This record gives sequence, C-alpha cells and structure tokens, in this order.
Amino acid sequence: MTPTLVDPFQRAIRYLRVSVTDRCDFRCVYCMSENMTFLPKKDLLTLEELDRLCSAFVNLGVEKLRITGGEPLVRRDIMTFFRSMSRHLESGALKELTVTTNGSQLAKYAQDLASAGVRRINVSLDTLDEQKFADITRWGRLPQVLKGIDAAQEAGLRVKINTVALKGFNEDELFSLTEWCASRDLDLTFIEVMPMGDIGNEDRLGQYWALSDLRARLAERYTVRDTDERSGGPARYVRLEETGQKIGFITPLTHNFCESCNRVRITCTGEIYTCLGQEGHSDLRAPLRASEDPAHIEDAIRRAIALKPKGHDFDYSRQDVQGKMSRHMSHTGG
Ligand code: GTP
Ligand code: 5AD
Ligand code: SF4
Repeated sequence: MTPTLVDPFQRAIRYLRVSVTDRCDFRCVYCMSENMTFLPKKDLLTLEELDRLCSAFVNLGVEKLRITGGEPLVRRDIMTFFRSMSRHLESGALKELTVTTNGSQLAKYAQDLASAGVRRINVSLDTLDEQKFADITRWGRLPQVLKGIDAAQEAGLRVKINTVALKGFNEDELFSLTEWCASRDLDLTFIEVMPMGDIGNEDRLGQYWALSDLRARLAERYTVRDTDERSGGPARYVRLEETGQKIGFITPLTHNFCESCNRVRITCTGEIYTCLGQEGHSDLRAPLRASEDPAHIEDAIRRAIALKPKGHDFDYSRQDVQGKMSRHMSHTGG
C-alpha cells in the first residue's frame, strides 16, 4: 500500500506543483513588475536535488506532478529532469507528469516532453490579438506561442489553454477565444485574477472579471451544461452543447474550492508552500542537503504538511483587495 500524505483537514495530498525556476522570458503585467530581481543561481535546487525531492513526494503517495515556473522550459537542461521523472510513470507510482508553460519554448521541446511521457500540457494565453499579446506579456510575441501550440499538438500532446479573465482586456474576446479553441480542438480554462505580489501601477480590482459573469455571457450564445469531469486541479468544467467543447472555470474569488484541495507547491529553492494564498511555508532545502537518507526528507515533508492551512483569504467583495500575498505567482508557479 502506498502511504498517503493527509493534512490536518483530512485532505489527501496527491498533487505536487514544482516551480523549477523563478525566471521567465515574459513579463505579464498581472504576474510580474517590469523590473524583477531574480534569485542567484546558487540558491536554486540542482536538478539532482529536485529529483530527490520529487521522488520523496512520489514515495509518499503523490500521483500528479506539474512542473511550473516562472517559465519552466527556460531552465537549463530541464529535459534531463523530465526524462528522469518518467521512471515514476513507468513504475506506475505517478499517474501524470505535466507542465504549465507560456508556450514560448514549445516548438523546441514539445517532442521531448512527449517522449518523456507527458500527455497533456497547459499553455497560458490571454489574447489572440498580436498587439494586445505584446502589451500584456510585455516581452512575448504571439506567433512564437502559436507555433509552440502547433508543435505540441503535432507531438500528440493534449493542450489546455489557461486564460486569465481580465476586465477591459479580453472581455471582448470571449467568443473568439472560445471559437478558436473549438476549431483547434483545444480545451480552455478561465482563471479569476488573484492578488499575488506587487505589480506596480496595475490595479487588481480594476482587472477583476468574475467568472460568474463570464459564464452568464457564454450562456447568451451557447447552451452551457455542468459536468462532473475533473482533471485533478481546481477547475470545474462545463460543456458547450453546440460545439461539444470543454470549458473550465478556476474561481478562487467567486467560489472557493479549498475544501477539496489536494495539492502543495515547492519553489525552485526548496521551500514548500502548502497554500497558494497564505504566506506560511517551510524549508525543505536544508533537510535535503543535510542527509541523503530519504527518511530524513520524508519526515520534513510530513511536518510541513501538518501545517497546511484551511484555505486562502482572497476577497474583493468589499471593493477592497483582501488576502493579498507578498510574493508573485512566478515564485510558486500558480
Ligand atoms: P489541470 O491538471 O489541468 O487541472 O491543471 P491545474 O488547473 O491544476 O493547473 P494549472 O497550472 O493550469 O493551474 C491553473 C491556475 O489555477 C494556477 O496557475 C493558479 O492560478 C490556479 N490554481 C491552481 N491551484 C490553485 C489553488 O490551490 N488555489 C488557488 N487559489 N488557485 C489555484
Ligand atoms: N491571478 C491568476 N492567475 C495568474 N497567473 C499568473 N498570475 C496570476 C494571477 N495574479 C496565471 C498565468 C498562468 C498560471 C501559471 O497562472 O496566466 O496561466
Ligand atoms: Fe511568465 Fe507565466 Fe508570469 Fe507570464 S504568468 S510572466 S508567462 S510566469
């Protein structure tokens, strides 16, 4: 019997999200400020340390491993790490190895990801308009990402598009994004913007577009049916009857999903955050470096899980941003 990590609220932890770098080749306005200070390389876990740490989680019953960043595919030699994790897929211990990416490097790596056993990936894309894409990502170029998505599909990867719903930015693209995804056989998930980190002059309340409203607008054109399909993450899915496509909603603001949380996150320096929306974290790098004995790091993981909080405190309902986090999304990978 595989052991299970269980938190103080009796939630089984089966999903680990690992940020392998805090760096990114884009500067999305809701995610980063223009001038970010990145960690010195010596603070990062080595690929070998990341392997030991993830393997310890797998030993403790984690079945889903998602690699994130920053942009995970800009970390040097990251394919070595994917190839090495694929042994846990082969053994059957891990059910899914996957990645959340901005798509910029997919043309280069899609085939290697598929060869390492990745079957499904999530690509962040908030607009199909080239100028708006350049504006929101500051440094990104849309054609490069579209080529990456093509490469992923050619490599046989199932692709889910993650779109942050942003008032006044992509409201007018709701139907064009939906239709584009249907025509390309891409899944699509919308995300409510969360107050993660200082983003300069951008104003979170001004950006916030509630997915309850987005769904109502979809229903003006399509028949929207609830489903109980799940992908192991926080998204709840509907199907549009006319196109048959699957649309996901990630609603930390309008509908809290913390009671069914099954995940924890580690950063590229080996901190474990047991909640995206709380500041509390523990260090796993010191125990990892103190001993090669897997029992040592497994104990540290269990102690950290015992501190997992009940949930986040994000709230915009009083026309004020409550529950704001000091760290950026790129720190923990979303
Ligand atoms: P699937 O495997 O496709 O279900 O992926 P996922 O939704 O778990 O992963 P993805 O990286 O696509 O996550 C999308 C976004 O959902 C993240 O970047 C976060 O913004 C948000 N998210 C994921 N997990 C949590 C969570 O535990 N709490 C909150 N508040 N948001 C989360
Ligand atoms: N709120 C919601 N989603 C965010 N992302 C980045 N910053 C935020 C935020 N403040 C999304 C990205 C990507 C995923 C990793 O997290 O667009 O899809
Ligand atoms: Fe980079 Fe992703 Fe943050 Fe955009 S959302 S800046 S792609 S880490």
